[in-house]
Amino acid sequence: MSYDTMTRPTAARGSVRTLRQQEELPLLRDHLLRLDPESRHDRFHGFMDESFIERYAAKCADDGTVIIAYIEDGVVRGAAELHPPGRSPDSQPEIAFSVEATVRRQGVGSILFKKLIAEARAKGYRSLRITTGAQNQAMRALAHKFGANLKFRHGESTGSIDLEPQAQPMPARAAIATPVDAARAMASVNRVYWKMLMRMYGWGRTA
Ligand SMILES: CC(C)(COP(=O)(O)OP(=O)(O)OC[C@H]1O[C@@H](n2cnc3c(N)ncnc32)[C@H](O)[C@@H]1OP(=O)(O)O)[C@@H](O)C(=O)NCCC(=O)NCCS
Repeated sequence: MSYDTMTRPTAARGSVRTLRQQEELPLLRDHLLRLDPESRHDRFHGFMDESFIERYAAKCADDGTVIIAYIEDGVVRGAAELHPPGRSPDSQPEIAFSVEATVRRQGVGSILFKKLIAEARAKGYRSLRITTGAQNQAMRALAHKFGANLKFRHGESTGSIDLEPQAQPMPARAAIATPVDAARAMASVNRVYWKMLMRMYGWGRTA
């Protein structure tokens, strides 16, 4: 189990880590049940009753969904969900976020998003899909911050986040790249060396 403390300045004081697949999923369920009606509506695109949320959390425990949780005093106050892609070839992994109202606008959503992207990259995913209500300013701002290009359709915003492999830092260009460069460099070293010798022994000095 890996515990990571928050990595950027934020008022939030909790920690972020991945929940253990089966035994810790009730922590996700309890978090989702604590969301106020408006947040539940935003998170589940209108589905709000408790039995739906219970079934939803149970499904996450079984279908390989990765839950990255923001935890304070052992209680999950925020979650990022990374759902595996479906079986169709063009299917993308889906992501979703929820942060309880008491800890919002403190960077929790952002740190969860960052961790989720790292996890998705580690799994080799090339892109992620996100869907949110067209009026959901908070989620749109968060998604935009991480490069999502959201498009509106039927009252929903749907978008993709591209996860092209991160550019590796370019190795410093070798000072000597080819045999020709090497020969030139040697000649240049020799010229400098001979000039230095001539200066030392006073050769070639004009009177
Ligand atoms: C969307 C949600 C996860 C954001 O969580 P959060 O912890 O408040 O997010 P952050 O504090 O990291 O803020 C992320 C960015 O969004 C912006 N933002 C957050 N709430 C906002 C709001 N209500 N209006 C406009 N911008 C908002 C922040 O300013 C921040 O941008 P910045 O870093 O450039 O300042 C949270 O509001 C939530 O759980 N909503 C209910 C569930 C939901 O709608 N889920 C989406 C369905 S997938």
